[in-house]
Amino acid sequence: MLDLAVFASGNGTNLQAIIDAIKSGILNAEIKLVISNNPDAYALKRAEIQKIPTKIVSKEMFENREDFVNALIGILKAHSVSFIALAGYIKKIPHEIVGIYKNRIVNIHPALLPSFGGKGMYGMRVHQAVIEAGCKVTGVTVHIVDDEYDHGPIVAQECVPVLHNDTPEALAERVHKVEHRIYPRVLQLFSLGLIRIDGRKVTILEERVNNRT
Ligand code: GRF
Repeated sequence: MLDLAVFASGNGTNLQAIIDAIKSGILNAEIKLVISNNPDAYALKRAEIQKIPTKIVSKEMFENREDFVNALIGILKAHSVSFIALAGYIKKIPHEIVGIYKNRIVNIHPALLPSFGGKGMYGMRVHQAVIEAGCKVTGVTVHIVDDEYDHGPIVAQECVPVLHNDTPEALAERVHKVEHRIYPRVLQLFSLGLIRIDGRKVTILEERVNNRT
């Protein structure tokens, strides 16, 4: 069972996919709270509808970085969070928190990392760049969060074809569909203890999944 915090800055369709997966029994987790840097994030509304606690926390609300980091750590502890899922969170996770939650923070990225990632590569910019580069495939990556943007060990990837005359919006929609399917599934693998991380190498102990299902 994962005691989750979901960090989201925007619409929160991935948050919704996680909520739905928990409700339908696909994912054995509880969302302890949703944290956003953006008071206008629709993700917060989605959480409120489900009566999931929310917190708006951004660096600008604090006098200095230390206070910000301590506040975040305090909130995570107060809600007994054991695992963090970033779902469209555009800020960097402070390295103190990366340390405390080592290998227990994941992110979902709308491309096949290590391509089309890094600072500033989020949302429609990613899909625009993929199309401009003439790629025939893009995809979804779920990875462990470390101290660099979109850099930690890769847990899961799935390809999505780039179609002739694709617009960033059309491509984003198809990528999102894949995200909503694979993110809850990857979280469930963590919940079952089926992910082994050794340096940059991540092994999914699939056989044990098969034995249990
Ligand atoms: C997703 O495409 C995700 O890969 C990226 O940000 C987007 C968030 O979408 N990190 P949503 O807010 O979950 O709808």
